[in-house]
Amino acid sequence: MLFDNRTVIITGGAKGIGAGCVEVFHAAGGNIGLLDLDREAGEQLAAGLNSIRENSVRFLECDVSDFTRFKICIDEIVEHFGQLNSIINNAGTHPPATAIDDFSLEQMQNLMTVNFLSTYAGAKYALPYLRKTRGTIINISSMTAILGQHLSTAYSATKGAQVSFTKALALEAGKQGVRVNAVLPSNVDTPLMHEWAETLDDPQSALERVASLQVFNRMATPQEIGQVCLFLASDQSSFLTGQAIEADGGAALDY
Ligand SMILES: NC(=O)c1ccc[n+]([C@@H]2O[C@H](COP(=O)([O-])OP(=O)(O)OC[C@H]3O[C@@H](n4cnc5c(N)ncnc54)[C@H](O)[C@@H]3O)[C@@H](O)[C@H]2O)c1
Repeated sequence: MLFDNRTVIITGGAKGIGAGCVEVFHAAGGNIGLLDLDREAGEQLAAGLNSIRENSVRFLECDVSDFTRFKICIDEIVEHFGQLNSIINNAGTHPPATAIDDFSLEQMQNLMTVNFLSTYAGAKYALPYLRKTRGTIINISSMTAILGQHLSTAYSATKGAQVSFTKALALEAGKQGVRVNAVLPSNVDTPLMHEWAETLDDPQSALERVASLQVFNRMATPQEIGQVCLFLASDQSSFLTGQAIEADGGAALDY
């Protein structure tokens, strides 16, 4: 049990990659602070896992772009479980494909707040607790951070900021025993992916095209990304910090 008697906070943990992380860390023996906007999905996931292991998942309704509320939730999870060993800054969103001319600065500021400033806030507010446990920070970025993405300047920039932040913070926090890494998925089969496909003329062929980008001819499952996060949060990766792990199923190969 790689995460036995340890506690992780997972933002955006009610669905998609976050929910995959919740399931994987729970199966590894961990206690989980599940933070999400979606009360119904969050409470349902927590209830199912608490019926397997009592008081192992605590759901708190939280919009990570409300930094005051976010800090209160982090403090409450630590108070509840007694310690914090990891935080996974996963909550984020992807706007529909849009040219820079049609994406306002206000929209960009809002996206930056949800996708990047929340990562900064989560790391900042968790660090005092993580220094005590020599814990880890994991930021869910994206392959778009290094490859770019057509009609996604705003999204790609928010994901790039997460990678730069990961590397700079790894230098600072490493001296205090805290490791910081980022995970860069390519395409993962999540509700967000399906919502994106629905904005296109032919959703099914869009999903098939996206699946074909990986050498395995399929997208990742949320649980596969969760397993990468578990490795980064566990002692098995004790010499890794400041890394941008490309969890892309070979999508960037054969350039
Ligand atoms: N799906 C992919 O292919 C893919 C690829 C690369 C990176 N990512 C990144 O992974 C992360 C998760 O993506 P996903 O595909 O699982 O998305 P998703 O929409 O399927 O799930 C995201 C979860 O986060 C929650 N959430 C959204 N905004 C929030 C906020 N402000 N505060 C709290 N919770 C919030 C949602 O309610 C939902 O439960 C994102 O940061 C995304 O950029 C996804």
